Amino acid sequence: MGVLASGSGTNLQALMDADLGPGKIVCFISNRRSSGAFQRADAAGIPSWFIDHRTFDSREAFDAAIVKLLQEAQVEWVIFAGFMRIVTPVLLDTYPGKVVNIHPSLLPAFPGTHAQRQAVEAGVKLAGCTVHLVEKEVDAGPILAQAAVPVLPEDTEETLRLRILAEEHLLFPRVIKALAEGRLHRSNHIAWFTPPVTS
Ligand code: GRF
Repeated sequence: MGVLASGSGTNLQALMDADLGPGKIVCFISNRRSSGAFQRADAAGIPSWFIDHRTFDSREAFDAAIVKLLQEAQVEWVIFAGFMRIVTPVLLDTYPGKVVNIHPSLLPAFPGTHAQRQAVEAGVKLAGCTVHLVEKEVDAGPILAQAAVPVLPEDTEETLRLRILAEEHLLFPRVIKALAEGRLHRSNHIAWFTPPVTS
């Protein structure tokens, strides 16, 4: 498995800390040199690469460079753990049905950026995260798993982000392990609802 991330890498950390069954993370790639995920990958002894998307003429050329690295590492599953780039058929057609993403909303609600802010502003009472297969449309591939959390009256974007993130760290490794074991298919999903913790 190859993991791609652009942000702080807490989901990468959750994956590295988890039992993924036969799944093994063999490389990490980021388009952001400042990604905190590099230190996490280094600490876990996972080889990592920085590929700056700004140095490529097209999305396709950037994806071709990623595919080359993934193939050299003999990756079978491509895992987006907060990878903030739109990918093209150059990558998707190389790994059909094998590119997985996590998104911090209950898709199809609130695709794109600032999903948690969108949820707070929309006034929804349930939010959550979704693990799905990646297809050409952004945040729109087949849904594999979802975890729901309440939106509390006093929530801000940040408090909701943290509540959802805690569920991401539980859901994502479970999904990736199930995929590695061949136990998870479109008709056999994982879903749960986490009730609020009250004082
Ligand atoms: C997560 O909220 C994930 O759902 C989204 O990007 C964020 C990455 O967070 N796609 P981290 O870098 O794993 O902490």
